[in-house]
Amino acid sequence: MSRFFSKTHANLTPYTPGEQPRGEKLIKLNTNESPFPPPQSVIAAIARVSSNLQLYSDPQGTELRAALAAYHGVAPEQISLGNGSDETLAFAFAAFGDAEHSFAFPDITYGFYPVFAALFKVPFTEIPLTDSFEIDFRDYLNLGKNIVIANPNAPTGITLPLGDIEQIIKSNPDNIVIIDEAYIDFAGEGASAVPLTARYDNLLVVRTFSKSRNLAGARLGYAVGNAALISDLETIRYSFNPYNINSLTLAAGAAALRENDYYAQNWAEIARTRSLTISGLRQAGLTVLPSAANFVFAKHPTLAGPDLLARLRERGFLVRNLGQPRIRDWLRITIGAAGDMEKLIETIKVIGG
Ligand SMILES: Cc1ncc(COP(=O)(O)O)c(C=O)c1O
Repeated sequence: MSRFFSKTHANLTPYTPGEQPRGEKLIKLNTNESPFPPPQSVIAAIARVSSNLQLYSDPQGTELRAALAAYHGVAPEQISLGNGSDETLAFAFAAFGDAEHSFAFPDITYGFYPVFAALFKVPFTEIPLTDSFEIDFRDYLNLGKNIVIANPNAPTGITLPLGDIEQIIKSNPDNIVIIDEAYIDFAGEGASAVPLTARYDNLLVVRTFSKSRNLAGARLGYAVGNAALISDLETIRYSFNPYNINSLTLAAGAAALRENDYYAQNWAEIARTRSLTISGLRQAGLTVLPSAANFVFAKHPTLAGPDLLARLRERGFLVRNLGQPRIRDWLRITIGAAGDMEKLIETIKVIGG
């Protein structure tokens, strides 16, 4: 820390992103990326706009917001774009949190929430998951705090039924409820809370192109909600960086929304590989939570989490251990290509036996 660093940030512990190895040949199952490339049309759309990079990007993201609005059946004014959903989430903490408007979220969830809260000086409460790592929606009823819930939750992969989510939204009418749907496309149809945005002015749904649209490196996320909430996010966005989405990513996002068949096939393949992975890991003796996401959360019967992680790395597999005491012995494993998951299971059997 330099002597110039503001004392207001002296105690800030930043988020630790998963490793992005360069050069090493590893099977990368640590940051929930897609094992599939973006479709050719997305790559072509990026190439087309690249000759105009001397110009700033469209600060309103007009074409992409229109495409997203059509996809979700909402108006473009109900969408705010972010440089990854991380940025959209950060804007939401900045827009809706302060000393009088604290946030609540599960104790085991996406590790960035407490970091955003600390950065923007928003007090927060962590509500423990049940012993089976589930969210008990009753813990969130009439809470009188802003709430953020990842659905499916990360790193558990477990979903909260839409009816439970609606009760939470309904019983906290004077607070914002953010549903972070980073992994919702892997949960099957009808799981998204987006349709509820038509009925509740306190609901913000946050989504990303990183996981289910194979565009983690393009950095594109967004929020869907009531137009007044979105206008608050836009106030923060225009106060920070109106050109937060570059032209290449705007084009990639719009092209990606024209490739729904390709992505639907990817999601079906990931769901198939996920069931094979869960049964394979269970056969190998691990405890595996039911997952509706593109990752599984698993615990070895004898090896501590960091030990299994280290042994897998020696054998060329990168997985994630989140390090929190309650989940120290659990590993989060991204669903990769089917062949790689088979190799992983065989390797775990060898390590454990
Ligand atoms: C639950 C959850 N929300 C949001 C994000 C952020 O994704 P991105 O900033 O790539 O959109 C992640 C990334 O891992 C996540 O797991």
